[in-house]
Amino acid sequence: MFAPRRVGRRDNYGMVKGMGENLLVLGLQWGDEGKGKVIDALSGDFDVVVRFQGGANAGHTVQVKEEKFVLHLIPSGILHPGKLCIVGNGVVVDPQCLLEEIDGLEARGIDVSGLILSDRAHVVMPYHKVLDSLREAALGKRKIATTGRGIGPCYADKAARCGVRVVDMMRPATLRRKLKEVLAAKNKELVQLYGAEPIEFAEVFAAYEAYAERLKPYVRDTVPLVRDLLEKGKSILLEGAQGTMLDINFGTYPYVTSSNVSAGGAAVGTGIPPNRIKRVMGVVKAYSSRVGAGPFPTEQDNDIGKTIRERGHEYGSTTGRPRRCGWLDGVALRHAASVNAPDSIAVMLMDVLSVLAELKVCVAYKLNGQEIENFPADPDHLAEAEPVYETFEGWQTDISGVRSIDKLPRAARDYLAAVEEVTGARAEMVSVGPEREQIARRTCDG
Ligand code: IMP
Repeated sequence: MFAPRRVGRRDNYGMVKGMGENLLVLGLQWGDEGKGKVIDALSGDFDVVVRFQGGANAGHTVQVKEEKFVLHLIPSGILHPGKLCIVGNGVVVDPQCLLEEIDGLEARGIDVSGLILSDRAHVVMPYHKVLDSLREAALGKRKIATTGRGIGPCYADKAARCGVRVVDMMRPATLRRKLKEVLAAKNKELVQLYGAEPIEFAEVFAAYEAYAERLKPYVRDTVPLVRDLLEKGKSILLEGAQGTMLDINFGTYPYVTSSNVSAGGAAVGTGIPPNRIKRVMGVVKAYSSRVGAGPFPTEQDNDIGKTIRERGHEYGSTTGRPRRCGWLDGVALRHAASVNAPDSIAVMLMDVLSVLAELKVCVAYKLNGQEIENFPADPDHLAEAEPVYETFEGWQTDISGVRSIDKLPRAARDYLAAVEEVTGARAEMVSVGPEREQIARRTCDG
């Protein structure tokens, strides 16, 4: 029998604080929505922060006063002392990258003793990265424009049951056997299919044996750990990476990443049972951006797009690539809301739009003369879709000092109301600048 839902104190975010009320925070667009800042703002209220999917393709940026932190693998909660930060079993871990991140944080005085790495997480190997770029090159014009971090090939091996997991890496004999077997097949692919150089066993083995030695103190079986945390009523914040439109099932396939980005992925990527994830917060950027290839109906490849890119510093935090920018896509957003059912939303980078006289939100697509409101599965349809826009008045005032949502200018509140309507969720936070404290919140209860 299920325990009755406990009701705790409502805080500024409108969510029930503490009392084991686990919260999932995820992106509702194509990633880069500003999840790092949201996680950072919320982390203080939780005991544990856990990542459940993706890998070093993510780049979560947190600005703390003059200091900028970009985290790729370690949950952003690490910037709050005393938090347990779990890299869950659903994450694909590049050990070299993880160690660099640990060293980088320690060098800046951040305590990483709360870091835990699931022994079931899969390990990104050198051949994953090489194959990532060779497969991209072979796709030519149809390339995905991946981050080149080996993400797709690593998840492919996981599904093909020939992946190397953290637990395997920890045992030299197992690592040796697995690497020998896999490398034989990978080298065939590298040499015969792509005409590339084979990868040397000894070099990879030595490197990964050394990584294992250094990572050993962080490695745990996270299933009993999570069970224990839940039993003790600890509150867990689940940190999504990328965004729902890059989800392998619900995104703009094949122009997606290779993990389950959406809410369903949170349970399988952590071992937290779905009915223990009490709330979902969707993170929405006030406009759209996407990095990499793939259809993008509301893209503004013009001065509007340029203005947004420059004001929003829309350059990849992992790759430095300029992001494609455009108007908010309500059709995609409604699709993302359907598969995640957010209880609340955080609307990010709202200040970026402050200079524009008018703003547009795509409310439907026109396809073969017909208006459609559901997000099409066919990428060709998406490429042909013409956005149907609703126009909103711009607020054209500086909102960077606003700390309460009801103090935003009327035009900004109207725009926000449109985002709330599309997602079916109330905005609990609006980001009005890059700094940690530049967040407008709900100040009244209810
Ligand atoms: P991959 O995840 O490196 O395989 O890349 C697949 C697609 O997802 C590419 O279009 C990437 O640009 C995109 N992508 C991956 N990670 C992120 C992210 O953190 N933010 C935005 N786009 C991403």
